[in-house]
Amino acid sequence: MSTEETPGTGTPGPLWPAMLPPRRQGDDSLCAISAKGIRVRFADGHERLDGSSGLWNANLGYGNSAIAEAVSEALTTASYLSSWSFENSYTRQAAAALVELVGPQQFSRVIFSTSGGAANEVCMKIARHFHVLRNEPERKIILGLRDGFHGLTYGAFALTDAQLGQRMYGVDRRFVGHVAANDPAAISDALAKLRGRVSAIVVEPVLGTGAIPLSDEYVAELLRLRKEHGFLLVADEITTGFARIGNAMFESQGWPEAPDLVITSKALTNGTMAASAIVVSRAVAQKFHDFDTVLGHAETQSGTAVAGAAIIATIAEHQRYDSILLSSNLAKRIDVVLAELVEREPLVVGATGRGCLRALQLANAQGPLERADVDRLVAAIRAAGALVHPGPSCIQLVPALIYSDDDLAELADRVSAGLTLFANER
Ligand SMILES: Cc1ncc(COP(=O)(O)O)c(C=O)c1O
Repeated sequence: MSTEETPGTGTPGPLWPAMLPPRRQGDDSLCAISAKGIRVRFADGHERLDGSSGLWNANLGYGNSAIAEAVSEALTTASYLSSWSFENSYTRQAAAALVELVGPQQFSRVIFSTSGGAANEVCMKIARHFHVLRNEPERKIILGLRDGFHGLTYGAFALTDAQLGQRMYGVDRRFVGHVAANDPAAISDALAKLRGRVSAIVVEPVLGTGAIPLSDEYVAELLRLRKEHGFLLVADEITTGFARIGNAMFESQGWPEAPDLVITSKALTNGTMAASAIVVSRAVAQKFHDFDTVLGHAETQSGTAVAGAAIIATIAEHQRYDSILLSSNLAKRIDVVLAELVEREPLVVGATGRGCLRALQLANAQGPLERADVDRLVAAIRAAGALVHPGPSCIQLVPALIYSDDDLAELADRVSAGLTLFANER
């Protein structure tokens, strides 16, 4: 295994990349030029092992040819066909496949959108509209979890709890609140205070930020409270969907009762399209049908034929790979590798997460690692040849489900090499 020099920064060009401070823009070691399988080639000439499945979305790795061929066919024969005041045969088929995948007994319909953030906003609209149809228009409040992430478009930004400047940007949180995750008393108290006003609770089955799973007891309490208070329960499975956790295609399929809405994006097209989907329960869909009412949401680029083709092919590829088995086998090997890292690396104080969505928790003598140090560690791991994302006092390890034993051992070696580089820098 080779390591490389820590790259210098370049001069920013016209591209203004997201969530990267200006001083780090224009750096060739951050400019990807191609990707295949689980490796990404960069403009600085280096190929790096991807420990993040892209942005947690290329669950089957890069360059899947079945998905590429399906998209290519749709681009040629359909180009652009919309789902706004029209239907198209590709998205009809994709919706049917998604309902089948998520659970045809509980779910019956699918609304397409273009991103995880936009899909969360659609869910807020569905929930408020649903309660208006039930003659409870005062139910406007949406609750999310502390440290939850639901996107950075305005509505979703309100529901995202990570502190990313909501106040400065004037994000409107009049009808949004947050409660601590895995604290049954906190959610029960909040609902008692807000009696009759909560429209929906939106949760990630495993909070992506820091990889914190909801406990079984907490999920049971959410389900009990749903019966008592009548809110809609939304499972934001943008990260946890498509066999990421390993027990099922969607983590909420393991809950004792299904949520009302399930959001999927990221791995929905294996990361190839700006696409997301909301899978709607039979009861919620029926209410809109009964009133013959139109949900006030549409996007020119949502539910296109090309996105539909990518979704159909992605689902077929998951079935061909038997991705649930792939993921649960990989998860068992990850358990071992992470335990070894905790054992041998002084900075690594624990591992969190479930399945193939994990985080290594980091602390030094001063306490949990500060964000600036985590960023320096991520750069050191990149210099050691692997790509991982930073989290709060942690690095996130989210490998593609197609990782072999050797790939995982290589990722662990490169993380260790990065930790050594980081320690020597100080
Ligand atoms: C759980 C969850 N919800 C929503 C989002 C937002 O998705 P997008 O970036 O596509 O808007 C993300 C993205 O990381 C996510 O992890």
